[in-house]
Formats: sequence, structure tokens, C-alpha cells
Amino acid sequence: MSNEEVFFKWLPDYSVNIQAIDAQHKELVNILNRLFIAVSKREGDSAIAGILDSLMSYTQTHFALEESLMRQANYKDLEPHIEEHRMLIAKLDALTKKYLLEEKPIYFEMLSFLKSWLREHIQGVDMKYSGALLQAGFSFDSWEHEANTELARMSNSKNWWKVWKAA
Ligand SMILES: [Fe+2]
Repeated sequence: MSNEEVFFKWLPDYSVNIQAIDAQHKELVNILNRLFIAVSKREGDSAIAGILDSLMSYTQTHFALEESLMRQANYKDLEPHIEEHRMLIAKLDALTKKYLLEEKPIYFEMLSFLKSWLREHIQGVDMKYSGALLQAGFSFDSWEHEANTELARMSNSKNWWKVWKAA
């Protein structure tokens, strides 16, 4: 796949200057790219269902880790940020159910919605909390340890990476 064909190309502008958060955001971008390929190539129900499951698991884990980070840092705008996460999970859940239960195709508009949402969320509210935490000199060490443990636990329980890295 050449660069021009990548559905969601990661750009340096998306960095929030917290390495572990950038790594998680890149993983979300990778899963969306994997979903785009599966939809484009009509890979079939079980492949797409597996990728949607990975997308949901990873998104929920990432959001929980971000919320835990903001909570540890006593970040003042935690509640509205959690609300944005909650709304996206509801939308993602609706999209997944629509596909799995009604057997409707995943529309490219929905993929575009997820791409725009993630890009705007990262460059908007994520950039705001990271800027505030960095400026306050918050130490990320204990949160990073928690994040690594949680991501390892998720990987072990789901084997999710095998699903979408297979292509
Ligand atoms: Fe966020």
C-alpha cells in the first residue's frame, strides 16, 4: 500500500507531546486503517466483526487510561472530556450493532466520521489536557506503568492484534 492510499495518515501535527498517548493514538489510527482495508476489499463478516471488536476494546481501554491520567493530575476539564469519550463509545456501539445485528455494510461515511472525530478530538481536547499537564510539570511515570500493565492485560485477554495485523 503506497502512502497516498493510506486512509488515515498519521501526521506530526497530531502529537500531544506525551509519547505513550501518541503511541495509543497511532494504534487507533492503525485499527481504523485496517477496518478501511477490510471494508474496501469486502473481507467478510467475521474479519470485519473482529476488527470492530478490536476497535471497541482498544478505544475503551485508551479512553479509560486517558481519564485516569487526567484524574491523577487533577485536570480541571475532566468531566466534559469524559462526556466526549462517552458519546463516541455510544456512537461506536451503535455502528457495531448496526453492522452485526442488521447486517448492513459499514458505510465509508462512518469511517470518515470516526477519522474526523479522532483527529479533531486529538487536536482539540487531548492537546489541551496534555499542554496543561506538561506545563504543570506532572510526572507521567506511575501512570505509564499503569498504562503498560493495562495494555498488556488487554492484549493477552483478546489477542486483538492478531486480528487486524493479519492483513
Ligand atoms: Fe481524549
